[in-house]
Amino acid sequence: MNSPLNLMSPPAIVRRESVLDTKAIQALDSAHYMHPFTDHQDLATRGSRVITKADGIYVWDSEGNKILDAMSGLWCVSAGYGRTELAQAAYQQMMELPFYNSFFQTTNVPATQLAAKLSTLAKPVGDRRFDHVFFSSSGSESNDTNVRMVRRYWDLLDQPQRKVIISRKNAYHGSTMAGASLGGMSGMHAQGDLPIPNITHIEQPYFFENALPGETEQAFGVRAAGWLEEKILEVGPEKVAAFIGEPVQGAGGVIIPPDSYWPEIQRIVDKYGILLVSDEVICAFGRLGYWFAYEKFGYKPDLVTFAKAVTSGYIPLGGVMVGNRVAKVLIEKGGEFNHGYTYSGHPVACAVALANIALMERENLVGRVRTDVGPYLAEKFKTLAGHPLVGVAETCGFTAGLVLVKNKATQELFAEDLGVGMVCRRHCFANGLIMRAVGDRMIIAPPLTMTHAQIDEMVALITRCLDLTYAELKDKELLG
Ligand SMILES: Cc1ncc(COP(=O)(O)O)c(C=O)c1O
Repeated sequence: MNSPLNLMSPPAIVRRESVLDTKAIQALDSAHYMHPFTDHQDLATRGSRVITKADGIYVWDSEGNKILDAMSGLWCVSAGYGRTELAQAAYQQMMELPFYNSFFQTTNVPATQLAAKLSTLAKPVGDRRFDHVFFSSSGSESNDTNVRMVRRYWDLLDQPQRKVIISRKNAYHGSTMAGASLGGMSGMHAQGDLPIPNITHIEQPYFFENALPGETEQAFGVRAAGWLEEKILEVGPEKVAAFIGEPVQGAGGVIIPPDSYWPEIQRIVDKYGILLVSDEVICAFGRLGYWFAYEKFGYKPDLVTFAKAVTSGYIPLGGVMVGNRVAKVLIEKGGEFNHGYTYSGHPVACAVALANIALMERENLVGRVRTDVGPYLAEKFKTLAGHPLVGVAETCGFTAGLVLVKNKATQELFAEDLGVGMVCRRHCFANGLIMRAVGDRMIIAPPLTMTHAQIDEMVALITRCLDLTYAELKDKELLG
């Protein structure tokens, strides 16, 4: 039996890098590990980069290279790497109660406490309150939950014909059948015979690509939201169940909508009485300077998807904040909701989330994005717009994107098949920086713990990598 004292004293960590043979790991990797979103033939030829350890905002590979992780892992390590208290929270909970399910009228303490805590973090807006949470283990699962919950809601209200969910092209909502269908990634749809029925898409609010000549951002935002109303009328308002959108499209390339977009979306969903789902898997937990991003844009979602930074990525956890409009119907009408996951409300994941939120509160990570490091990043990142290779450079909270252009004066883009974004990404990796390429949009989402000096270091690295990319493209005579 463990005493509470033992629970607080995790065993010493034994570092393993001294025995690491990169070539041997790469061989095992390509022989056995099928990576997500990967060309397996290409991987087998080139081998993986083996990441072995991390601390703060840096990761190290098996060759000893130190790399500044400007993507927080995959948009998730918001509290930074090496947080002992998150490991301790997991250890303590594993020793106390590593698992129990919530299916058969049972619960566990961390899941209950986390649900209550999240309800206080998700601020009421207008007549919406978020007193309830449904847990999963990922963003994709959470969006599957949304599809199930939205349909259950309309069934319970005797409107079973309301099945259609409208989403946007270039949205990312996960990789399960429902998640990928909600998403608007044409490559994913092409491989999976997707979308599944009753999911349809409108164009994204991407000013740089979709604005008309001379159109202001504000006018474009209203026009882009209007595509939702056109789609509702095309489908038939009585058949539309919900609209889903990311506050800022992350994986699509950090597409930041004009300020006028979300209020107009709200007006339209209200007009037709359809549910609004805010997928905040990337945007919640401080990424945009708020615990939940609907607060920043001032709209009133009915369901809010979260995952990733709820645990700073230290352990998988996702979920849906269920607004009172939906919760009330599910609770008052009753009947079993035939949906859930083995790991819904996993006690270890929930304990780590509680410790992560406590840490974020103590260090004011959310507030400092809004009033300190967010504005500082904006100021520094926007200087990159002056680079001859950059068309536009924009930030929102602690995420940012820039577009690589062939001709700065005309903003002409490179031909897609040149893969210029990948050229830039290669220079980033070779120079100790992780920056993601989405087509020719280079994007970042650094840990929220970054200091001003680290932001300066990151922007200097980005500049260097842009210079190297520019020089390579010039050599190959690819510039306009
Ligand atoms: C907005 C959004 N929704 C859903 C997902 C899917 O989350 P997961 O990969 O945890 O399933 C992601 C992942 O990046 C995301 O960005």
